[in-house]
Amino acid sequence: MIIEIKDGAQARAEREAAEATARADDRSTTASRPSSDSASDPFGKENYRRMKALLKERVSERRFKHSKGVAKTARMLARVYGYPNPEQARMAGLVHDWDKRYVGQAARDRVVELGVDIDPTIVESMPWLLHGPTGAEVLRREFPELGEDVFQAVARHTSGAIGMTDLDMIVFTADLIEPNRTFKDVEPVREAVGKGSLEDLFFTAFKAIFANLVENNRMLHPDMVEIWNHYSVRQPGAQKGRLSSSPDPKLEN
Ligand SMILES: [Fe+2]
Ligand SMILES: [Fe+2]
Repeated sequence: MIIEIKDGAQARAEREAAEATARADDRSTTASRPSSDSASDPFGKENYRRMKALLKERVSERRFKHSKGVAKTARMLARVYGYPNPEQARMAGLVHDWDKRYVGQAARDRVVELGVDIDPTIVESMPWLLHGPTGAEVLRREFPELGEDVFQAVARHTSGAIGMTDLDMIVFTADLIEPNRTFKDVEPVREAVGKGSLEDLFFTAFKAIFANLVENNRMLHPDMVEIWNHYSVRQPGAQKGRLSSSPDPKLEN
């Protein structure tokens, strides 16, 4: 180590130069830092821009466009149905496909790596559903400020759940009806926006997905049947109260 002995004037000049540099650095940091209001708001403009830039690095151009569409649609639904935090809904929509780049075996490996508790049968047979729960887990670890409501909505967007919250229903439905979707059964769901309760809209969306999976001979997440049963009896015109007569048309005659 070399110890340099400086005279007083040189030491003072260097100290003053260092202080001036530090002041300039402070000014530039302050200038690039978001205002305290937006910086402290996880759903404010600054954080939304930051998460959008990070998402762009993780997903394909097509997926990025879809995610922005879901974000916008989620905020629109939040406003239509009086959800108190439309900006939170927008953020949840933006990040819902955070882990979508992991497919097939990579998605299964992700479950193990993150230690997410999912039925091994689902992990093995339906890896395309895993990006919801793994995305939620990685967001929880890296961006805890987004909060459990957002993580849950992300986790549930792939297959739904019993006891969906308003935010869960908003993200689930926005994922289906965002403007870039061309899936043929989307239109009736779009038309149903604002015509009943948010649960009615979610049920319409869930039904469209359920019907499409059946029509195309696709596998159903086993929970989907329970979710269907749970929500269908709550719908007007359901067989509620008429269970003594069979709702199965095969058994009518
Ligand atoms: Fe997804
Ligand atoms: Fe999606």
